[in-house]
Amino acid sequence: MATSVASPSPVTARRTTIAMKLVMAVSGALFVLYVIAHMYGNLKVFGGQQAFDDYSEHLRSLGEPILPYSGFLWVLRIVLIFALLAHVYSAFYLWSRAQGARTTGYAVKKAVAATISARFMRWGGVALLFFLVFHLLQFTTNTIRANGDYPSPYQRVVAGFQVWWVVLIYVIAMVALGMHLRHGIWSAAQTLGWTSSARARGTANTLAIIVATVVVVGFLLPPLSILVGFVK
Ligand code: HEM
Repeated sequence: MATSVASPSPVTARRTTIAMKLVMAVSGALFVLYVIAHMYGNLKVFGGQQAFDDYSEHLRSLGEPILPYSGFLWVLRIVLIFALLAHVYSAFYLWSRAQGARTTGYAVKKAVAATISARFMRWGGVALLFFLVFHLLQFTTNTIRANGDYPSPYQRVVAGFQVWWVVLIYVIAMVALGMHLRHGIWSAAQTLGWTSSARARGTANTLAIIVATVVVVGFLLPPLSILVGFVK
């Protein structure tokens, strides 16, 4: 006998959509905090080899002796992996629902604008995932060695960014990250109900632009300074 799976009622579907948007906003907010902290940490490269290598070592010894060596880093990694899974899962859920639900309702202009920015969020997000794999293979596992193998984290960073195509990959990825952040922060503000007045919308928009710009500029300062020989 054939069985049929009942599709959820419109109310249940709407609730799940809201829940998924919340998951997306909260996991995205975690990433925003992480990238700001990571960007700030990377600026230690301007303090020289000792400062940067000490910082890298502190990331591992933080929390000792309560936590084992690298314990803090593992807690951070696990939180980030869960946040990433939640972010990608909710993105796919909302993506598939949007595909199925596009009947009528939007004014033409809004539908076109929404589609362009939504597409950019999706493909920009996929590009960022590829970048993350490249990035971890380069600096965490030390598998990609574009310009030799070095024992110190500082030397690996400097050697890596002396190669123009490595810097180009980072420039493209950071521009994608900036656009993702700019739109993502705005969408999260909407989901969390922080855009109900014109003033609140203005604040959310300005905050999104400031965070995206600071992150992009801050992340790109070390690679570009190394490429031009300002940091050696
Ligand atoms: C120009 C931009 C960036 C530079 C120069 C950079 C540099 C680095 C370096 C040097 C490490 C190794 C740190 C260490 O092991 O001591 C690292 C690790 C890492 N980076 Fe980046 N990063 C950049 C952008 C990003 C972005 C946009 C993300 C995305 C969220 C990211 C995520 C990570 C993660 C998850 C790790 C691994 C931490 C760990 O588990 O050990 N990075 N990065």
